[in-house]
Amino acid sequence: MKILITGAHGQLGRALQHRLSDDPDIQIVPTDSDTLDITDREAIGPFLAGAGFDVIINCAAYTAVDLAEKQDLLAARINTEAVRYLAEAARKHRVRVIHISTDYVFSGDNCRPYAESDEPYPHSIYGRTKLEGEGVLTAFCPDSIILRTSWLYSEHGNNFVLTMLRLAEEKPELRVVCDQIGTPTYAGDLADAIYTILKSGKWVSGIFNFTDEGVASWYDFAKAIFYYTGRDIKVTPVSSSEYRTAATRPLYSVLNKAKIKRVYGLEIPYWHDSLRRCLSNLKKI
Ligand SMILES: NC(=O)c1ccc[n+]([C@@H]2O[C@H](COP(=O)([O-])OP(=O)(O)OC[C@H]3O[C@@H](n4cnc5c(N)ncnc54)[C@H](OP(=O)(O)O)[C@@H]3O)[C@@H](O)[C@H]2O)c1
Repeated sequence: MKILITGAHGQLGRALQHRLSDDPDIQIVPTDSDTLDITDREAIGPFLAGAGFDVIINCAAYTAVDLAEKQDLLAARINTEAVRYLAEAARKHRVRVIHISTDYVFSGDNCRPYAESDEPYPHSIYGRTKLEGEGVLTAFCPDSIILRTSWLYSEHGNNFVLTMLRLAEEKPELRVVCDQIGTPTYAGDLADAIYTILKSGKWVSGIFNFTDEGVASWYDFAKAIFYYTGRDIKVTPVSSSEYRTAATRPLYSVLNKAKIKRVYGLEIPYWHDSLRRCLSNLKKI
């Protein structure tokens, strides 16, 4: 199986490279903005032509949620228009697509986990551009798999775990939002889920939710990070109204994972266990 990974230097891209590279039956071609800029429509077709890819895993995205409120055109270019270019080329060259989306497509007004069939209603530019990306992909390549995930973190890149560990070195006390509820998800676990899908021999198109198990607020997440790393730092819980950000995030964005568990038989780790694995890997870096 020959797989093109876009955005291969991002959190998920790196985790996927790590996960897939040990399998002798899988050949990966990792690319990033310097080698395959997905907003360059003219570049994508020739990249796919005659290359014999079976699957594209699109890990490339504009992920700066707050900055997107200002850089809305750039966010739309990467999260929506470029997904259309990929989809057009994938359809032409008969390559299947696995695409990643987000819990931020939802409003957060629910008080039960969101199913794939629930009506999305994003409050942020990031969420809106990701939702529109889902739409164009489904329109051009209805055979695609879209995985919605949440609160992604890993040993690399920009994420909450690394930000908390950095801030703990710089400040004696942190204020962290306690009224946004979701699920921290280790990029390695999402990479494992994608690997299971690829190896299942079963391609079921459509949207699937995937996050780690359990629920947390950002405050709970921060407390767990400091507990497991033995840092004695004061963390004060604050509400979203006390901690203003440019983008409005959903207050509740837990995703229901029943569909992916049923279809692909996944056993999903509990977020605390995955956080401990990530923190232990960080010690080795
Ligand atoms: N991070 C989260 O908390 C989170 C939550 C829910 C869903 N997701 C989704 O999960 C997926 C993976 O997220 P992630 O956290 O791994 O993202 P990430 O770490 O921000 O990585 C994104 C990658 O995309 C690349 N990229 C940006 N513009 C590109 C372009 N025009 N052409 C090619 N590559 C480009 C970036 O490369 P450069 O650095 O060179 O620009 C970067 O390597 C994304 O679809 C994201 O929307 C993420």
